[in-house]
Amino acid sequence: MINSPILDLATLTLEVTNLETAKSFYVGLLGLKPTLYDPESGILELRVGEYQSLRLWKPLTRRCNSERLKQVEARGGTHVHFALQIPKGSRQDAQNLLTLYGVNWQEIDLANAGEEPDLGTYFFDPFGHGLELREVALERTDSRFPVIPPVRPTQDARTIPIAGLREVALAFTRFENMLERLPHAYGFAFADQMENRAFGQFTLGPSAEKDGQFTPRRWLYCWDPQVGLADMLGGEHVTVGFFADVEAVRVRLEGTGLEYLHDEHGLAVRDTEGHVFEFLDLPKELEPRAP
Ligand SMILES: [Fe+2]
Repeated sequence: MINSPILDLATLTLEVTNLETAKSFYVGLLGLKPTLYDPESGILELRVGEYQSLRLWKPLTRRCNSERLKQVEARGGTHVHFALQIPKGSRQDAQNLLTLYGVNWQEIDLANAGEEPDLGTYFFDPFGHGLELREVALERTDSRFPVIPPVRPTQDARTIPIAGLREVALAFTRFENMLERLPHAYGFAFADQMENRAFGQFTLGPSAEKDGQFTPRRWLYCWDPQVGLADMLGGEHVTVGFFADVEAVRVRLEGTGLEYLHDEHGLAVRDTEGHVFEFLDLPKELEPRAP
């Protein structure tokens, strides 16, 4: 069994064309808390739960939205499919709010035959990113509980109760290549792949495990360019951040030929096809204490 140095999903960066529109959708409807709003640099940063974040970048001519990530030519992703966690039992309320805001949505049952229905709610943001809401169990009852716990959102009837970032889907034209590189170069825990689609699944945690059934765990999905469920696409040139054992990832990267920067914030690697992976230390208070 692989012991993955990747601990959890930390951050996702999306390309947007208008920060005000982004703000009214992600703050007004999804209730995410802005931590940075800098129109000059084309940045809106939002907190998801306690420790995860969503960064919205408006591209600007002759510059990168992040001075630090310029070296690896990081961009916000286009048409990214990603999922947010909502507490089990809040699906109906979330759908009512989407309807109230005039957002078209559809529901798909993701459970396997014989399992309790696991209904995903799918809709698009104003920029063509494909969002999904998945209900998760918030009780710390099993070993699937991630290192960054999903949080029970404070009650606000006007916004969707987001508990965490759940998954990100990326497109890779050279799919077979990616399947080999991600576990080898970074240590991502390969969980599964589909038979009828080029679709690989990685568990963002210490080892591969089964998805679904209200798991609070986080996931990285990698597809070839294809239209997936609910007409959604895997993202192109996406910047994604992971909490990780940064040093362990750095050691793996040696000799892979991948271009990366390493500083006090962690690692940022330019993967192929324009994706950028960031690896960050766990927040200090969540680090396992020395015995
Ligand atoms: Fe999904």
